[in-house]
Amino acid sequence: MRHLIRTDDFSIEEINELFQDAERFSDGRFERILQDKIIITLFFENSTRTKSSFEIAAKRLGAEVIHLDVTKSSTKKGETLTDTAANLEAMGPNAIIIRHQNAGVPKILSQHANAAIINAGDGAHAHPTQALLDLFTMHQHFDNLKDKRIAIVGDIKNSRVANSNIELLTRYGLDVTLVAPPQFMPKTTLKTTDSLTSIIDKVDIIMSLRTQTERHSYPIYASLKDYASDFCITKELLGDRDILIMHPGPVHRNVDIDDALLDDPRSKVLNQVKNGVLIRMAVLKKLIGNV
Ligand code: CP
Repeated sequence: MRHLIRTDDFSIEEINELFQDAERFSDGRFERILQDKIIITLFFENSTRTKSSFEIAAKRLGAEVIHLDVTKSSTKKGETLTDTAANLEAMGPNAIIIRHQNAGVPKILSQHANAAIINAGDGAHAHPTQALLDLFTMHQHFDNLKDKRIAIVGDIKNSRVANSNIELLTRYGLDVTLVAPPQFMPKTTLKTTDSLTSIIDKVDIIMSLRTQTERHSYPIYASLKDYASDFCITKELLGDRDILIMHPGPVHRNVDIDDALLDDPRSKVLNQVKNGVLIRMAVLKKLIGNV
């Protein structure tokens, strides 16, 4: 059984096939190929986009989706997560989609699972389907992604989205620069800066990330307003430059990206959400579609 824990679980050839499937699905060319499949969603952290887009993707392809409400599950009565997963497995689902606050949980479950385990985000480790839909969104705008220049801006150190994108984008030959204050910068061999103005004339894409305050053990910026004055992507900063603006969501308005730029056609934030359904359809087809 194949699982999707990290972006490097798929080769470039496999990802290119996912993109071809996602393009076909965007034209409405899909059938109920998962009609006899059962998928469980298990979210131990909040989600708007990932959970609902996986559910829509599964339903469009004809699968049954069971959402386990973890606040009412027996993990609240002391059952271990591996026992919960083993009990769900015993019911014979084809896939379990899991989000967990602890890095490594989907990988551990995958080592005991007959169902396909799909990582919907684990701690600050990985969020593979987000990176795949981000790359697909870039692929829709550029004929050739190799050597396209991208700045990833924000709380990179605590971001699973950044981790998965860095792996995937560098594999596709994009030129990645990390832009963050020192306390949000991971150890890296990539180019780094704490100055947005120094990179603004040198990039084709900016990916803004949310400050992950829930993962900070203590406040590490004086205030979000202070942070925004240095790192908010504004329409004024962009001027008339032809730069694609992306953000995985949820967006902190006027902290990560300002209102005016979110309404600008250069912002692809909602295109990313739309593509999330298509990419997740393609991932489900690949892992449990048997076609
Ligand atoms: N991008 C993302 O993972 O959003 P959600 O937390 O709403 O799923």
